[in-house]
Amino acid sequence: MTNILDDEQRLLAARVSLTQQIDRGSVVLSSRLAGAFLNVPRHPFVPVFYRRDGERFIPWRSTDSDAEAWLDAVYADDSLITEVDGVHAEDAAPEGLSGVPTSSSTAPSLMADMLDALDVNEGDEVYEAGAGTGYNAGALCFLAGDEHVTTVDRAESLTVRAQRRLKGVGFDPLVIHGDAARDFPADAMYDRIIATASVRRIPPVWLARLRTGGIMVVPVKGTLAGGSVVRLTKLPDGAAVGHVLHTPAAFMPLKGGTGTPAEVPAVPDGPCADAEFSARVLDDWTFSFFAQLHMAPGVVRAHGKNDYGLHVTTLFDPADGSATRIDDMPEGPPMVTTAGPRDLWQPIEAARRLWQRLNRPRREWFTVEATIDEQAVRYTAPDGTVHRWTL
Ligand SMILES: C[S@@+](CC[C@H](N)C(=O)[O-])C[C@H]1O[C@@H](n2cnc3c(N)ncnc32)[C@H](O)[C@@H]1O
Repeated sequence: MTNILDDEQRLLAARVSLTQQIDRGSVVLSSRLAGAFLNVPRHPFVPVFYRRDGERFIPWRSTDSDAEAWLDAVYADDSLITEVDGVHAEDAAPEGLSGVPTSSSTAPSLMADMLDALDVNEGDEVYEAGAGTGYNAGALCFLAGDEHVTTVDRAESLTVRAQRRLKGVGFDPLVIHGDAARDFPADAMYDRIIATASVRRIPPVWLARLRTGGIMVVPVKGTLAGGSVVRLTKLPDGAAVGHVLHTPAAFMPLKGGTGTPAEVPAVPDGPCADAEFSARVLDDWTFSFFAQLHMAPGVVRAHGKNDYGLHVTTLFDPADGSATRIDDMPEGPPMVTTAGPRDLWQPIEAARRLWQRLNRPRREWFTVEATIDEQAVRYTAPDGTVHRWTL
């Protein structure tokens, strides 16, 4: 029996199918971008990835008996998890493990959306934060030319593999093992910077290393909920300005600097008050983007089911120890219970009222300005009123 990975027709059909899936979705591919997905194969970058089985992540190899299904999964428009708690799928025991994903190949349609926003021309100097499998770097090499691409990852086990696989498909970019918020080749300046890990604020060095007129595409995500991608252009005065893309994007955070999100403690029963809304409103990606702008930076959220089998959210601010629980109730309004100095739910209810008054603005209606000193999100309402929040 021939190995599926030796069947060139089957592999080409898989790339065509993936390109069509992306094109039929929310991204209209330019011919150059379609060329990247047709010419850069995904399977060499993910010879083993994890599939989920309940709480566990089980490694799945091309050599397993269900190779056809494996190939279909590789060329589906889904992200593929390749590292869990620092354990690469290639190094995992067959029974797998449970933990938190720490590296993955991004869903191709999200890659396409971000690459489209990045608008890479041949010869542009490109910096990618988060090399991961190397697949997105492969697309960048196709678009800019591999001698113009630098990609960085914090894990050497990832950069070694990414470099080997990029070479295997004919690309030889600069692959650096380091912290993308810090480690840049001396004096290098870039026309394009793309991050495939999320940040709360844009690291100042990315602003400094982007050339005037250059474009940066970066996932920005707070700890509360929902992530967004921003696209900024650098102006001659050094500021970078742009807007939020419509695409929700839940990228894993760029490690280092921001630290590990705090554990959310249980809130003991005590005096409680009525809530105006269920905390399920935070599951709406459009609103959670807006809500995040009104929260202190470090606030974390845990959610699940309460004793009634209904939704419960707990918010926690490690800065002052405030914790607030919002319980859906079988009858009547949701209940708010707070421990510590501040009720963390009130600002979200106020944000919800403002969001409704503003006619529920979508994330892509917001603009972003970033300087070395300050980063802000702005929304101009149809009546000309400007609302501004500091990131
Ligand atoms: C979603 S994955 C990247 C996907 C990748 N572009 C691809 O095509 O496979 C995010 C990556 O960011 C990396 N990362 C996290 N923090 C980092 C940091 N401070 N510096 C560089 N890379 C980092 C992770 O190791 C992970 O591989």
